[in-house]
Amino acid sequence: MKPTVYITRRIPAEILEIIKKECDIRMWDESDTPVPRELLEKEIANVDGLFCLLTETVDRNLLEKAKNLKVVSNMAVGYNNIEIEAAKEKGITVTNTPGVLTETTADLTFALMMATARRLIESSDYLREGHWKTWSPMQLTGQDIHGATLGIIGMGRIGASLAKRASGFDMKVLYYNRSRKYQIEQDLNIKFMELNELLKESDFVCIMTPYSPETINLIGYRELTLMKKSSILINTARGGIVNEDDLYRALKDGEIWAAGLDVFEQEPVSKHHSLLSLPNVVTLPHIGSASIKTRMKMAELAAQNMLLALKKKTPHHVVV
Ligand code: DGY
Repeated sequence: MKPTVYITRRIPAEILEIIKKECDIRMWDESDTPVPRELLEKEIANVDGLFCLLTETVDRNLLEKAKNLKVVSNMAVGYNNIEIEAAKEKGITVTNTPGVLTETTADLTFALMMATARRLIESSDYLREGHWKTWSPMQLTGQDIHGATLGIIGMGRIGASLAKRASGFDMKVLYYNRSRKYQIEQDLNIKFMELNELLKESDFVCIMTPYSPETINLIGYRELTLMKKSSILINTARGGIVNEDDLYRALKDGEIWAAGLDVFEQEPVSKHHSLLSLPNVVTLPHIGSASIKTRMKMAELAAQNMLLALKKKTPHHVVV
């Protein structure tokens, strides 16, 4: 008998076909709305596998309802939406999709740095809204990227890829990480610094660390005031790593110059979110990994992880 799996969102047909060969499928067949919690609670009761996204909260409460569940396959590298301890206790394998999204997320992070520093969105709006009457010396001037100092918080795969891109812009790269990465320091000519020092020295601070109990509100008002008044904060990791109220205050008070945000504490954010009212904030709807090729690779990897676990083989990327 084939195992049964529940897929929490419409996924590309090619990937669905791969799963169908080995499993009976149940799926929330919508692309733009998440599966209602009550339905997920019902569906999880009898399935062997769950293919989910970061929009689903897979907590103890949900896992308690699962009678046959063997694997939760998250189509994301981050897995803060899953209560790992609860899965571990219940002997449920949890998998994720690192690696395939590294370069695409580093590309977006660099693009966001540039868009924020050079006020691209504001400038485009300025023109479209009919404000452009003449060229003038200091009109829409921003910050240079080339030659600036980039501070990366979290030197994992994406952090290292970002550092590579920075070298092409003659940037000096500093990093802070729980543990030193000696090989990367040598290979990429980057320098380790304690967090406070990195915040003081950097022109751009990019957050690239996983979201965990240790990193909740890692950046608050105190940290923001350590940064240069001309500096820019970029977050493409998880919103909760930065205290959003503190960030709003620091931007309003001129403690930092601007922020570029792809992620928020509660997603999706409403258009009335306070940070969206500030002209010196560039905002994106969590699109770090959103290239067609990469999202296909993530879906395929998540499918393979789930199928391997269901066959009692080791998935490519096991969290627990
Ligand atoms: C992840 O994978 O964790 C990203 O946030 C979405 O690609």
